[in-house]
Amino acid sequence: MLAQLLHLKGIDSVVLEDRSREYVEHRIRAGVLEQGTVDLLHEIGVGERLGREGLVHDGIEIQFAGERHRIDFASLTGGRRITVYGQQEVVKDLIAARLKTGRPLHFEVDDVEISEVDSDFPLIRFGHDDDEIELRCDFIAGCDGFHGVCRDSIPAGVLTAFEREYPFAWLGILAAAAPSNEELIYAHHERGFALHSMRSPEVTRLYLQVRPDENLDEWPDDRIWEELRLRLGLEGWTLNTGEVLEKGITGMRSFVVEPMQHWRLFLAGDAAHIVPATGAKGLNLAVADVRLLAAAIAAWYRDGDGSLLERYSADALRRVWRAQHFSWFMTSMLHRLEGGDEFDSRLQLAQLAYVCSSEKAAASLAENYVGLEHV
Ligand code: DHB
Repeated sequence: MLAQLLHLKGIDSVVLEDRSREYVEHRIRAGVLEQGTVDLLHEIGVGERLGREGLVHDGIEIQFAGERHRIDFASLTGGRRITVYGQQEVVKDLIAARLKTGRPLHFEVDDVEISEVDSDFPLIRFGHDDDEIELRCDFIAGCDGFHGVCRDSIPAGVLTAFEREYPFAWLGILAAAAPSNEELIYAHHERGFALHSMRSPEVTRLYLQVRPDENLDEWPDDRIWEELRLRLGLEGWTLNTGEVLEKGITGMRSFVVEPMQHWRLFLAGDAAHIVPATGAKGLNLAVADVRLLAAAIAAWYRDGDGSLLERYSADALRRVWRAQHFSWFMTSMLHRLEGGDEFDSRLQLAQLAYVCSSEKAAASLAENYVGLEHV
């Protein structure tokens, strides 16, 4: 996304990817795009298939105490919506756009090393197709995820990390089954949280709250479907089932480093921050980061103006912390709390009843969910 934004401003870059094209185009990840993310994909010329295949949603449903309640985003936010479109589909569209520009994109690079970060010309060394390559850079964008090399290349003592681990994880499946509901369902249940989502009219995405150390081998398909039925079930509603195409467990944690920059190395997306999945902010935050970073780099090349680069971290972190709060709020309201008691559960039910009955509370959830325009 950053490379495409820079390309459109006439700025060259080299994109390095650790994995193969096949891997990144098929790895199942997030799937909910905020309005601003969708708008940006259209603006940069990669929204054609998204416009055709993306599933536009005007709201979500929240289920608790045996009832479902709808939060109508469009009416609560002045017409803003979300679009369900798999992250790997966005990745495919961006790769195709990049290849069309003829600018470099290298897959399966190895031994990436970053040095001379305390300088105006940081250096990247990497291996590609048996060659050792050195890149002397004006800027390095660390868009390399939580486990990438960029954050760790920043000298000790520069970054402060803020962290929270949640005592649960999500077991997610992708199933060859038509969605059982038109919209996403976030379900609070005494057995634990469950989420009904989708990827297309033929493919359902479903999640169950499980222990962080849960063993996938203990979850044969029948057990998963039974548990989903228990947590999502309502009188008169049936859960469609089908072949389980993919199954995995994802931990839940919050993580932020400050600042998101050191000299000419800039961190974006999961390299700088992780949100717990509830509320689907991760991909959208990464997009918001690179939108700021592209504008800042462009101003530097165009006018020699470094002021946006200097402000990048502070500007990005305002949205990051807003999203951290929202993700923590959704997570805390919906999950069964390990070691929690009846008091905790009553507080959750009171909060759920509030967001589903007060228009002002619902509007607050809605504007955060579809993505705040200004933070
Ligand atoms: C999905 C993931 C989320 O974290 C969420 O809050 C909603 C939907 C999904 O993968 O479809």
